[in-house]
Amino acid sequence: MILRDFLSKRGKHIEDNVDLSAGTLAWNLRSKKKANEMDGFINATIGSATEDDGKLMVLPTLVEELSNLTGDQIFSYANMRGVNEFVQAWKKDTIDTYPTYLQEGAETFSTLPITACGGLTGGLMISAQVLFDKGDTILAPNSRWGNIDNVFFKNLQLKESTYELLDKEGNLNFDNLISKIQKAEKEEKKIGIYLNFPNNPSGISPSYDEVKKFQEIVEEISIPTTIFLDDAYEGCAYEDSIIEHSLYPYLIGLNEDVVTIKVDGVSKRYFAYGARLGLVTVGLGEEISDEEKMKVRELMAKAARTNTSSAPKGIQVAMSNVLNDPVKNKKIHEEKKRNTGILEDRYNFMKKLIGEKESSVLQPVGFNSGFFGYFQVKGKQQATEISQKLLDKGLGTVPFENAKIGLNGVRVAFCSISERNLENTVDIIYSL
Ligand SMILES: Cc1ncc(COP(=O)(O)O)c(C=O)c1O
Repeated sequence: MILRDFLSKRGKHIEDNVDLSAGTLAWNLRSKKKANEMDGFINATIGSATEDDGKLMVLPTLVEELSNLTGDQIFSYANMRGVNEFVQAWKKDTIDTYPTYLQEGAETFSTLPITACGGLTGGLMISAQVLFDKGDTILAPNSRWGNIDNVFFKNLQLKESTYELLDKEGNLNFDNLISKIQKAEKEEKKIGIYLNFPNNPSGISPSYDEVKKFQEIVEEISIPTTIFLDDAYEGCAYEDSIIEHSLYPYLIGLNEDVVTIKVDGVSKRYFAYGARLGLVTVGLGEEISDEEKMKVRELMAKAARTNTSSAPKGIQVAMSNVLNDPVKNKKIHEEKKRNTGILEDRYNFMKKLIGEKESSVLQPVGFNSGFFGYFQVKGKQQATEISQKLLDKGLGTVPFENAKIGLNGVRVAFCSISERNLENTVDIIYSL
């Protein structure tokens, strides 16, 4: 590398460890190339929801609102904490998804959100940066979104302690996380815990019973602990027994040693991936004064300001106009319901097809939410090898493989498979 001598230690670490051609992007490129050579190729690598005709799934009300904005509304600077009408509306939009009995607590123990430039990624970065130093321990699931490695472990160089999210049968189980928390309490001065539900890549969300079990542990924690909730796919739940909204209201107000950072954004919640708008809400473990809450919020605003500054304005104005207008608000929620309904239909159909099949190579996990189906490898083969075989047979998938943390599985993004291709998708998976 020609600039090697110019680089900071962080720069060298990033240069040596971050690989932009790996993971989802690389398998998407391979799939696109293969699709040019092979008729009927199915690309199930992409984590953006698409219509059955392959076009990106969007929300027409938001598209229309954006196209009606004036130059001033798009191009002037936004307040660095976020456009006030927008963050107020976002807070309400989030709290409205919680069961009524938890809504008051969500008011009491929360700051107002601040905006983060660069989507949820930006939100995760600024909040982790302000709370953790290089070498501090973060508990992260072995089944996790690849960019969390880039942000937490390769850029910020936090120390990884891995917990297993899924048991051997592919069901979600918090037991391993709980024992890792108990171990860390003895060894560390403070910790972070990264949780992401619906989970990427496993497509799994916890049942209410599992959440209760986790709540009981949170109540007992005795060292300063920050829970990062990556709520990218919140609201996409397809089974009655699982939690259909963020875990946030269950984790706040429980324990003064536990702070919960809710990171969400328009990317998937409003099908606006490229808008690059994330939000960070801090949830306290105990009741504090409004003045103290403002200071906590200011801290996050300072973190944002010193990193990427204010977030894009146009999307905030458009979202604010939609959320604050009862007619448009109703309309956009109907459109969201239509989109998640399509994802749910794909999920149900895929589950039905899988239920009729057996494989000696792949074991579907109990995916129940989000954008993905996930299959753990049963034998000695590596997930990369399996994704290559699937690619050759006409299906693009993403392998998740990391021997060190016990990860060996294949992700199938049903969010971007048209209904007519689902049967063929499952046939290919089970033809190995
Ligand atoms: C779990 C998870 N968090 C965050 C993101 C990215 O969000 P954003 O595009 O808003 O940075 C993704 C995108 O794939 C994701 O899967």
